[in-house]
Amino acid sequence: MSDHRPIGVFDSGIGGLTVLNAIQQALPSERLFYFGDTAHMPYGPRTLEEVRTFSEGITQAFLAMDCKMIVIACNTASAAALSDLREQFPAVPFVGMEPAVKPAVEQTTTGVVGVLATQATFQSDLYASVVERFASSVQVLHQPCPGLVERIESGEFTTPDTEAMLRRWLEPMMARNIDALVLGCTHYPIIRPLIERIVGPDVRVIDPAPFIARQVDRLLDQRDQAAGPDASNGTTVWTSGDPSLFLAMMGRMGWPPTEVRSATWNEGVLTPA
Ligand code: DGL
Repeated sequence: MSDHRPIGVFDSGIGGLTVLNAIQQALPSERLFYFGDTAHMPYGPRTLEEVRTFSEGITQAFLAMDCKMIVIACNTASAAALSDLREQFPAVPFVGMEPAVKPAVEQTTTGVVGVLATQATFQSDLYASVVERFASSVQVLHQPCPGLVERIESGEFTTPDTEAMLRRWLEPMMARNIDALVLGCTHYPIIRPLIERIVGPDVRVIDPAPFIARQVDRLLDQRDQAAGPDASNGTTVWTSGDPSLFLAMMGRMGWPPTEVRSATWNEGVLTPA
C-alpha cells in the first residue's frame, strides 16, 4: 500500500535544506513540506524551553496539513524537543538529528574528534548522552559557534570574516590533532567547502544528512508508509521570515526556483499561507 501524504521537515531557517536535499535524493517519490522558522532564527542562543515551544507549534501545523512523518532537520530543536514531542504525539513518527559522534569515533585514528554545534545543542541531555554512549574511548573537543548561523543565513558563505571566525575555532582543534570533525548543526554543511579548505585533507568532515535520509527510508518501510511511484511528489516550502529572501538563499545554495510561501505565528499558533 502506498501512502501519499507529505513528510514535514523543519529547521530554524535554511540549514535543514541540507537534510531536505538528502531526503529528496534518496526518496524522490515522496512529497515534502519544508518549514524554515526564520522569524525565530537563530535557535542556538535560545533556551531549550523556547525552542521546544516553537517545535510544538510547527508540529501542530504539519499535523493539520496531514503529514505522515516529521523530520526535525535541526540539531538544536531535536535536542530541545524530540523526546517531548514523541511523548506528546505517540502516534506520529519523528526523525531527529543528533551530532554524528558515532561515525566520527569509528573513523578516528588519532583518538581526537571535534564537534561544531550551537550553544543549546551542547547544553542538552541528548548531546551528553551521545558522548556518553559513543565516545568513552576518545577525546571529544566541543566548539560552540555563536554568530555563525546568522552569517550563513545572510549568505556569507565564503567571506574573509566567516573564514576568520572559523579559523579561530578550528585552528586550536587542529593543533590538538583532530582527524574527524562533526558538523553538529544543519547550517554548517552549507559552508562545508570553506571548512574543508581550512582543516585540509587529513580531517574528515562528517555531515549526518545521508544517515537521516536512510533513517526516514527505513521508518517509512517499517510502517508501510512509503509513497508509491504514482505519488504526486514535489516540495513545498514555507518560511516565517521573508519569502523572497528565503528563495534568494535557496538559489545561492543551488536549488532550482521554487515557490516559497509565507507562514505566520500568532500567539504560538503557526498558520501557513
Ligand atoms: N540548524 C540548526 C541546528 O542544526 C539551528 C541553528 C540555529 O538556529 O541556531 O542546530
